[in-house]
Amino acid sequence: MTTPKTPYRSRAWFDTPELYGWLRQAAFRAEGFGEPAYEGRPVIGICNSWSELTHCNAHLRQLAEAVKRGVWQAGGFPLEFPVMSLGEYNMRPTTMLYRNLMSMDVEESITANPLDGVVLLGGCDKTTPALLMGAASADVPAILVTGGPQLKGNWRGEELGSCTDCRRYHQELRAERITEADWAELQSCIVRSPGHCMVMGTASTMAAISEALGMALPGNAAIPAVDSRRQQLSEAAGRQIVRLVEQGLRPSDVMTPAAFENAIRTLHAVGGSTNAIVHLAAIAGRVGIALPLSRFDELSRSTPFILNLKPSGEFLMEDFYYAGGVPALLNVLAPLLDLEAKTVTGDSLGANIAEAQSHNPALIRSLDEPLDAEGGLAVLDGSLAPDGAIIKPTAASPGLLRHRGRAVVFEDHDDMDRRIDDPDLDVRPDDVLVMRNAGPLGGPGMPEWGFLPLPKKLLRQGVRDMVRISDARMSGTAFGTVVVHATPESAAGGPLAAVRNGDVIELNVPERRLDLLVEPAEIARRLAAEARPPAPYRRGYGWLFAQHILQADKGCDFDFLRAEALHSA
Ligand code: FES
Repeated sequence: MTTPKTPYRSRAWFDTPELYGWLRQAAFRAEGFGEPAYEGRPVIGICNSWSELTHCNAHLRQLAEAVKRGVWQAGGFPLEFPVMSLGEYNMRPTTMLYRNLMSMDVEESITANPLDGVVLLGGCDKTTPALLMGAASADVPAILVTGGPQLKGNWRGEELGSCTDCRRYHQELRAERITEADWAELQSCIVRSPGHCMVMGTASTMAAISEALGMALPGNAAIPAVDSRRQQLSEAAGRQIVRLVEQGLRPSDVMTPAAFENAIRTLHAVGGSTNAIVHLAAIAGRVGIALPLSRFDELSRSTPFILNLKPSGEFLMEDFYYAGGVPALLNVLAPLLDLEAKTVTGDSLGANIAEAQSHNPALIRSLDEPLDAEGGLAVLDGSLAPDGAIIKPTAASPGLLRHRGRAVVFEDHDDMDRRIDDPDLDVRPDDVLVMRNAGPLGGPGMPEWGFLPLPKKLLRQGVRDMVRISDARMSGTAFGTVVVHATPESAAGGPLAAVRNGDVIELNVPERRLDLLVEPAEIARRLAAEARPPAPYRRGYGWLFAQHILQADKGCDFDFLRAEALHSA
């Protein structure tokens, strides 16, 4: 080991003549550690979001053991600790309600304890951004290790991705094109192992952009969860965090404006999840960097979409790993990136990816032959979303990207559930389905309800896509012409609350417009007459959430958690 740039942070806990220094040493002895295990060593926390309630993270204890091996090898003292876990399938009403709470758990667990560096273990959708938000606020040297994607699904010889193909086949079930027996058989065929969803959903997107952001080791994102090379990478992360502590490289040194621009370009190049916009804005806010939606859109227009993965393309994360993973993708994107950005390897992004090569040009396309000349996400503006809305054009029907239709309005998710399959519902294939009261306040927590199901009666006619608009989010694994994050949300007085059945809505993605074709004075009159929905929580965390949650364009963070001094990226 080299001499650290500054004395270990942990010494403030141990180098004390008072009783507590003695007691802390006694506490480690109680765990079986002999001579002061931390003597001369940096103390490395392994911040673990393992939980049996989070199937995507169910293997993280094994990875924690690999990290510990690496820490010991490099001369550190590893200590694993649990933090809240956010299981996408189990938590109600939505994991997004709890992302900020987990980030507070991460921050406070790091800052309150004698830790010199941290390896963050996550994977499922919200766990990765929560770890990065907490680590950014704590600003102690940190490396992210994600759990990796699940094995590819396979049903009767067809390769399937969770949960893009879960949704596609559920639509086929509703259209009565597959049977209940088929549907039951599919259940074990799609989700075959621990690890996160293996399409370019939110978890894969956050893992990919974490490499571009510089917070994860090169190659981390795509190694399958159960591949032994993921354990080898975890061990390497354990060794590397000890070096980072010696160098004194903190998250605020890595997550710079340049790094966020690299991350945003990567998000567009991979056709990533709409949710990543919210998470990146929140992470950036923790280090005092403003990421306006307009910047996401500017970078989208100058970043080709080059990764051929579901839900916008054909392949799965396992294929991406064999094709060279994120380093190979970034090597292709290099002319558009700031290669001087620092990373947790201690080297620049450019140095990390210099030797990376793509082994599958059909999967990682070149800049000259992209899947699309523009990036995978677009930011809309207009009278229906004055502070922005998001669409994923790469996963939408090209024929609906310019569309005008009658609004069919659902008051909230329950109303939609009750009426969507009503044979008497007045709905036509060229209508626009609108759902409100599903935003940060209205949901609450902005659930992933934006992928509104299509009415059964239209599915039976062969309809497979319609324009859908809400203030909700959408799972990164979903597809279709779905506009989400309409901001401000309806529960905060946004214009979505003014839409009435039969109003005409115009979507124009090439011109980035989303408009309610109703006179502004009439919209204002309707909003003034609209009563705000009652707060769903009167106590506890839900109450705190409602008092302090910011809108989607600010990352849905709590106002009191953002860094004070914002400067533009
Ligand atoms: Fe965890 Fe999809 S359910 S990543």
